Amino acid sequence: MKLQGQVAVVTGAGRNIGEDVAKLLSKNGASIAVVDLDRARAEKVTADIIAAGGKAKAFICDVSKEGDIEATTKGVVDAFGRLDILVNNVAISDNKHMLDITTEEWNRTIAITLTAPFLMGKHAAKAMIAAGNGGRIVNVSSTSGYYGRGRAIAYTAAKGGVVNLTRSMAIQLAPHNIRVNSVVPNKIGSPVGKDDFDPTRPVKNLVGRPGVPIDLAQAILFLVSDDSSFIVGADLFVDGGCSTMMPGNE
Ligand SMILES: NC(=O)c1ccc[n+]([C@@H]2O[C@H](COP(=O)([O-])OP(=O)(O)OC[C@H]3O[C@@H](n4cnc5c(N)ncnc54)[C@H](O)[C@@H]3O)[C@@H](O)[C@H]2O)c1
Repeated sequence: MKLQGQVAVVTGAGRNIGEDVAKLLSKNGASIAVVDLDRARAEKVTADIIAAGGKAKAFICDVSKEGDIEATTKGVVDAFGRLDILVNNVAISDNKHMLDITTEEWNRTIAITLTAPFLMGKHAAKAMIAAGNGGRIVNVSSTSGYYGRGRAIAYTAAKGGVVNLTRSMAIQLAPHNIRVNSVVPNKIGSPVGKDDFDPTRPVKNLVGRPGVPIDLAQAILFLVSDDSSFIVGADLFVDGGCSTMMPGNE
């Protein structure tokens, strides 16, 4: 198994992409810290993993609060004895026009979608460095980090930030043998992208179907395993190829 004996923290693991990531990393031998704000979701995914023969523990954490992040990171090391992998998956979208969004809505979206991956990364990296085993971090970005949108403003700004946060994290953590990369999803059939997802509309990508959470989980497994040991600071598009097409030029 690719991740035998390793410990992985997955944020927003209570459903959808994070849930599939947690379960796939567990199937590959990792012990999973199931991090989510929603206790019922976190405990359900944890129970599922344990029922399937894996090791997992639920951590109830609001990633917009640094105190929660510090307590969670310490709790993971106390519970499992180490921390090897971090998947920064939580985000919220504002779904707002810039003329309507309040400063409070802007700040909350930035805090959860951009500042949280930085703070989770900072505290996890300190634990990885203290253990001396290196590590791997994957930040979940979005095609909304590469292109503007009519129906979101703070989310697109935050996801653009995640793309370049990943590059600086990769540079700054490379001396500690911690590899940092990002994945770039588009229209996965789950709530963050739901406003954009109309199942009656033809899917415009090169695969001809909408993405599903396991598509992301498989890409993330690759990035946290030694199969990708020469890949650092990269953005792996998991979007069915839609970003390769210029609208109107298909
Ligand atoms: N779904 C898509 O179509 C799509 C497209 C592009 C990018 N993405 C990205 O993929 C990631 C996962 O998306 P998803 O649709 O699976 O998400 P989701 O909304 O279905 O699940 C997110 C989980 O995060 C938890 N959460 C929310 N706020 C939290 C907080 N403050 N602290 C801790 N946990 C919190 C929720 O309880 C939930 O269980 C996000 O980064 C998203 O931006 C998704």
